[in-house]
Amino acid sequence: MKILAFESTCDETAVAVVEDGRKILSDAIASQVDMHALYGGVVPEIASRKHVEAIAALTEQALREAGCTRQDIDAVAVSYAPGLIGAVLVGLSFAKSVAYAWDVPLIPVHHVRGHIAANYLAFPDLEPPFLALAISGGNTLIVDVRDYTDLKILGATRDDAAGECFDKAARVLGLPYPGGKPMDQLAHQSQGGVYHLPHAHVDGAELDMSFSGLKTAVVNLAHHAGQTGETLDRAALARDFIQAVSDTLVPRAMKAAQMAGRKIICAAGGVAANSFIRADLQAACDKAGCRLYLPPLSLCGDNGSMIGAQGYYEFQAGHTAAMDLNAYATREIGK
Ligand code: KG4
Repeated sequence: MKILAFESTCDETAVAVVEDGRKILSDAIASQVDMHALYGGVVPEIASRKHVEAIAALTEQALREAGCTRQDIDAVAVSYAPGLIGAVLVGLSFAKSVAYAWDVPLIPVHHVRGHIAANYLAFPDLEPPFLALAISGGNTLIVDVRDYTDLKILGATRDDAAGECFDKAARVLGLPYPGGKPMDQLAHQSQGGVYHLPHAHVDGAELDMSFSGLKTAVVNLAHHAGQTGETLDRAALARDFIQAVSDTLVPRAMKAAQMAGRKIICAAGGVAANSFIRADLQAACDKAGCRLYLPPLSLCGDNGSMIGAQGYYEFQAGHTAAMDLNAYATREIGK
């Protein structure tokens, strides 16, 4: 089954053709990062407009690169939530038009389910059940993936997402947007252990997380240094910041796996590209005797293939939508 898949929830317009949920036939992406970098973060209205400009040509490109014509496409999948509402609406409206015009089923895909499904593309042997740590620019979730379409949240951030925290901390360190990758690179220049940053705990919810205090601590350190003329050890701060994020994520993921009885753990989302977090997860899994799946960097960030992968399993479960399908800025992953 060949699925034409659309992703437009943030600043990446992406269209892919995926076969049977596991094989990428094409994966066309138009990134808007350079445009948003001018403003130090995503400007939602610009994102929507850029999606409109890119999506038709990108669809032609995805079909061409997959060696497909419209007759080869069996269904259309689309990321319908969560995300920047105007941006999501562009992909959703376009996907609906294609499904209607070509008379094929329309499959709604939750964006974070898509991130998790990126692992199915990279690892043919991977099947649920497993524990997923989904860490991206807009979401930070610990999820029990009981089956392909049966997911339960075990832990979540109470405020900022991990990626958002990376981007804000990077900004005050003078790094370009999006800040995760440059922070990662900068941190390799230091052993850290210089700055004592907060590690938040949520009372009564041991698997939940909070990143806003950490973000504020880094912002305050940078502002204080700017005002007093003190020299900031930027590399050490980046290293200590990443350690604080990793110390929040990794033990909770391991605890969740233990509580759910899972011996397989998958990482997902843009922040899963972080080299320190990947190493810490690997070390923790080795210690606990768990098998860890880390998607290749190319599949960590937003892409269309992950939507095609999850779309296949949603279709198998009978989850298709009518033309009144709406877009949602927020939406629970279990729905
Ligand atoms: O998954 P993604 O492309 O978009 C969302 O679905 O939100 O994630 C983007 C996020 C950004 O916050 C970016 O800074 C972060 O992923 N990111 C990283 C790294 N590469 C990208 N964060 C930490 N370390 C990295 N190497």
